[in-house]
Order: sequence, then C-alpha cells, then structure tokens
Amino acid sequence: MEDRILLGQEVEPLQTTIRYFRTTDIGQALQLWSMTEGLSLTESDTEDAIKTFLDRNPGFSAVATDQAGMVIGAVLCGHNGRAGFLYHLAVAQTYRRNGLGTRLVQFCLSKLAEVDVPRCNIFVYTANDLGNQFWLRHGWNDPSRWKVLQKRIELVAPAEREPRLS
Ligand SMILES: CC(C)(COP(=O)(O)OP(=O)(O)OC[C@H]1O[C@@H](n2cnc3c(N)ncnc32)[C@H](O)[C@@H]1OP(=O)(O)O)[C@@H](O)C(=O)NCCC(=O)NCCS
Repeated sequence: MEDRILLGQEVEPLQTTIRYFRTTDIGQALQLWSMTEGLSLTESDTEDAIKTFLDRNPGFSAVATDQAGMVIGAVLCGHNGRAGFLYHLAVAQTYRRNGLGTRLVQFCLSKLAEVDVPRCNIFVYTANDLGNQFWLRHGWNDPSRWKVLQKRIELVAPAEREPRLS
C-alpha cells in the first residue's frame, strides 16, 4: 500500500508493508518499544519471552516495515480460545498518522476472526491519552461495569516444577 508522508517540504510516497511478526523481528521490535512513550517493558519482554509468545500464538502478531524492510511498527497478539489480547502496539514517531496503527490492529483482528475468537482485549494506561484516543476512536469500549485486577505470581524454579499435563 502507498501512503504519503511529509519529508521536509516535499510529499514523498511511502511504501509500507504489514506482515506477520517473525522471530527475526524481535530485536528491532524491542528497540522500537523501548523508545515508545506510553508502553512499559517487563520481564516478559526479553527476546526469549517474546519468542515463546510468538511460538504459542503463531501468525497473530504483526509488524509494519518500511521500503528497506526496517520495522517501523509492531504489535503482539494472542488468544486463549475465548478472547484475544493485544500488547505493545507502537508506530515509530515519524510514521504516525498514516494509518499504520489501524492496519496493524486490523491484521490482528482478522486473524482472530479466522479462528472464531469473538472479542479482543487491550490494556491501556489510564494516563496514556494518545493510546486512549486511538482505541476509543476505533470503537473499543471502556466498560464501566468492570476493571482489570492483577496479581504478581511467584515463579517456580525449573527443578521444582511438576510434570506438565499434555
Ligand atoms: C497509538 C499509535 C500506535 C497510533 O499509530 P498511528 O499509526 O499513528 O495510528 P493511525 O494513523 O492508524 O491513527 C488512526 C486514528 O487514531 C486517532 N489518533 C491516532 N493518533 C492520535 C493522536 N496523537 N491524537 C488523537 N487521535 C489520534 C486518529 O483518529 C487517527 O485517525 P486520523 O489520523 O485520520 O485522524 C501510535 O500513536 C503510537 O505508537 N503511540 C505510542 C504507543 C501507544 O500509546 N500505543 C498504544 C498502547 S495501548
């Protein structure tokens, strides 16, 4: 798809691609996320942890790339069979307001629709005005009847883990 972006005084065509998030994109995506306001990275954002997420949810997450193939936008998407979840939607500052965020989300929702997952959740910081405006503009609900509660889980050392049910 051809978008347009203002470079200096001239409007240049901008070639961008939305495609599956590959494990080889993890490094560039982490770099983008670490520079993006409104997001926070946790222990779930190591290269290994992201790879585990992608392996558990193959084909749902997406990146946006520029003409040179560099990652300029990214989003993680997965589901548990009942609902989908999006994490870390980000578009590089200079590429914003060109529809890339919208296209990344559309990619994920279309993949969820293909496997009959009927709803999707996101977690947005209350103070993230930009993020909240983006989601509300796209018809996402801010339900006043419930809220997200969260608790940290103390992890079990590998040697102390019980065999997993298969
Ligand atoms: C949110 C974000 C991904 C949007 O990416 P984007 O590529 O600029 O989004 P789009 O171009 O598809 O914007 C679609 C619409 O969202 C709304 N929107 C996007 N950015 C906005 C802003 N800064 N202020 C108000 N509305 C905004 C607009 O209605 C826009 O449509 P328009 O440009 O025709 O007016 C990007 O701003 C970003 O990376 N923000 C920082 C990270 C973040 O907050 N992510 C969400 C975490 S939950």
